[in-house]
Amino acid sequence: MRIFLDTANIEHIRHAAKLGIISGVTTNPSLVAREKSVDFKAAVLEICALPLEHVSVEALSLDAQGMIEEARHISSWAPNITVKIPVSEAGLEAISVISREKIKTNFTLCFSANQALLGAIVGATYVSPFVGRLDDISHQGMQVVEDAVEIFKKYDLHTQVIAASIRHPLHVIAAAKVGAHIATVPYNVLMQMIRHPLTDIGIARFADDWREVMKK
Ligand code: G3P
Repeated sequence: MRIFLDTANIEHIRHAAKLGIISGVTTNPSLVAREKSVDFKAAVLEICALPLEHVSVEALSLDAQGMIEEARHISSWAPNITVKIPVSEAGLEAISVISREKIKTNFTLCFSANQALLGAIVGATYVSPFVGRLDDISHQGMQVVEDAVEIFKKYDLHTQVIAASIRHPLHVIAAAKVGAHIATVPYNVLMQMIRHPLTDIGIARFADDWREVMKK
């Protein structure tokens, strides 16, 4: 399984990329709005210049023709861009056109296995079930990930499943266990995945004990 970082914060992206643990970044309008940058394209290009195979950028049009034109435009900015298209009739129509043009797409705001299946049928490169937002309303978000993985495998559909709207490290483990191809995680969750208090205690104790050895 691969890990993407779910943020538009360039410092966090640089740090995670330096650690070698992420192979992509997913952004959305809400994440971009949190950052100071006013030049959206410049911010995207800064991320795309990092050694990342995948950078998801959301198309904002609501009609199919607008999505198609936006996807053609955004995908021309850099080779590692994937265009996020939301689940809707317009989104399906747009992906069925641009997937034939080899533009990579991420079918986003996916909340059911049916939506994921339709995305795969029209040729989306990725579908993104939003796990946390389903959990928030007392649904089993990870079940959508599991169902999509199982269905795609059964019918040899090449669409990859990105477990999105990840809220904590246990979501990442669950996504890995059900076979998600990718989990896109917020920076704080990525850092939580690295840390363990017993590791910190162990490192400190080894260092203390070694200092005692060196005194001898
Ligand atoms: O990748 C989708 C993600 O950005 C949504 O996360 O926490 O807003 O539900 P959240």
